[in-house]
Amino acid sequence: MIARTSDIETAAGVLRDGGLVALPTETVYGLGANAEDPAAVSRIFQVKGRPPSHPLIVHLGDAQLLDDWAEDVPPTARLLGERFWPGPLTLVLRRGRRVPLQATGGLETVAVRVPGHPVALTLLAAFGGGITAPSANRFGAVSPTTADHVRTELGDAVDFVLDGGACQVGVESTIVDLTGITPSILRPGGITREDLERVLGHPLAVPSASHVRVPGQHPSHYAPRARVILVEPENLALEARLARERGHRVGLLLPPALADAVVKAHAVLKIPGSTTAYARELYGFLRELDQRGCDVIIASLPVEEGLGLAIANRLRRAAGPRPTA
Ligand code: TXA
Ligand code: MG
Repeated sequence: MIARTSDIETAAGVLRDGGLVALPTETVYGLGANAEDPAAVSRIFQVKGRPPSHPLIVHLGDAQLLDDWAEDVPPTARLLGERFWPGPLTLVLRRGRRVPLQATGGLETVAVRVPGHPVALTLLAAFGGGITAPSANRFGAVSPTTADHVRTELGDAVDFVLDGGACQVGVESTIVDLTGITPSILRPGGITREDLERVLGHPLAVPSASHVRVPGQHPSHYAPRARVILVEPENLALEARLARERGHRVGLLLPPALADAVVKAHAVLKIPGSTTAYARELYGFLRELDQRGCDVIIASLPVEEGLGLAIANRLRRAAGPRPTA
């Protein structure tokens, strides 16, 4: 059910009392706390099982509030905010004094964004402050894109779940670091590199998936329970057969070009033809293959342009080496 006004007031009250609220955003659901309440922020890390050095994003209701939360805000931040907020863009800036170090993992920089979801914006307006929120999943797992995903994964550990329906973008925000000499993309996401380059008027570098640049950007992240294997599209059917012969329950993400191919697998999900639809469905697909009991997921990477860059980044990380502990 979609949140009503009374739910939003309840959620704002929970935040004021130091509680945790799961809130919808246009990208994925967040696990929110009052950004200025260090104890509440610390609880986010406990609930997620996230190391305290991994910085969080502060969500604001309006770009006008930027100077309350960040210092030395450069003109580029205003330009990007004007163009892309509310929306799936996060800017890394110098930390303002309002932001406790718990929220930034001890860093002197802060990540901020104005989310493009009516329920999130109404909550931010009702609450009045900043809401610090990572994705509402356990550390390293697949991000939730529906309220049910959050309830299933976090249950009673969250004080209130605001339902805003299924997330429209489906992958997390693009993170742009504006604290260096030139802007750089720390994480590809819902705003494409091409859109950013058009507004900035120059090319942007994108990190390789294996390179850990900041805490919280580990190679294995966004991972389902099943092991993810990435292969060239022409090898999908062969890999699926080999894995089946080794006794695996294979889940297959079938690219649009192979939509008519007959491939034997425990579960086959057809990838939508547009990257917008694929991004929206990606995490739901990974969850579904887990739920259907697959222990191996075989997929190929989309072309790495537009939203395909974020999708490929998440698939690579889902396939990345897992911690052995
Ligand atoms: O779309 C999103 O961004 C979602 C929704 C809920 O807003 N949030 C999200 O949060 O993806 P999270 O915590 O799962 O990922 C935020 C990432 C961190 O992993 C970290 O790498 C980066 O943002 N980050 C946060 N603060 C940073 C900082 N000061 N410097 C560099 N990176 C930072
Ligand atoms: Mg996350």
